[in-house]
Amino acid sequence: MQVRTANRSAASEGREAARSAVPRSDDPHKERSKSYFDKLAERYDLSYAGRHSAHLVEVVLTWLSQESFDSLLDVGCGTGNLLAAISETDETVRLSGIDISLGMVSTAKRRLDGMADLRVGDSEKLPWAEGAFDVVVTTDSFHHYPRPARVLSEIKRVLKSKGLLIIADPWWPTPIRQLVNLSLPFVRRGDVRVYSEKAIQKMLAQSGFSVIRWERVGYSGYIVTASATQ
Ligand SMILES: C[S@@+](CC[C@H](N)C(=O)[O-])C[C@H]1O[C@@H](n2cnc3c(N)ncnc32)[C@H](O)[C@@H]1O
Repeated sequence: MQVRTANRSAASEGREAARSAVPRSDDPHKERSKSYFDKLAERYDLSYAGRHSAHLVEVVLTWLSQESFDSLLDVGCGTGNLLAAISETDETVRLSGIDISLGMVSTAKRRLDGMADLRVGDSEKLPWAEGAFDVVVTTDSFHHYPRPARVLSEIKRVLKSKGLLIIADPWWPTPIRQLVNLSLPFVRRGDVRVYSEKAIQKMLAQSGFSVIRWERVGYSGYIVTASATQ
């Protein structure tokens, strides 16, 4: 009994130490995202959220297959689905990913086993140098960001000149989207906002991107590609 108590306390101390290694976020949405996805990480791929993202990832992969690139960053990479799929088809691409949830990144690390540079961190502060990537992708994650303009500015910084940004995210037609947005303050996942086509296009233009193409994905998603101007 004593041994079991000691083991349990060592395990919980380990978890506590890992958690405290991740700095506390400056926004409640981020804390909610962290704790929700930390808990879901092991089951994420089979969950409703995981299946929704998997569909968006498939479409992103199709769009990426028409591009030529040597380096790619996945922002909000989750369990590494997109990165794993790319690494299986092309071992030469330098792959990187970042996610605010330690649990999701740990799962991605187990799966990718050294094939990608994976970091725990916030999309508002990308720990890479200016012009480090040909392509930045964010799949089913952008609607979690409380200050999307800051994220876009960071993405623009780490993208090469004329580099490509792909965002794939939830979307519904009016008035469903407005109703979903009204419900978001009450959900535990840390979702902030689902954007209309007009809103995302405006935000991208204001952040120095020129939109190449916006398309719906099924009934509940969209994909947009944009290039970093100059
Ligand atoms: C629905 S999951 C999508 C995961 C993955 N992109 C996929 O397509 O399977 C949303 C992810 O965004 C991450 N996330 C939320 N807010 C974030 C932030 N501020 N910075 C980095 N990652 C964030 C979450 O931790 C979660 O892993």
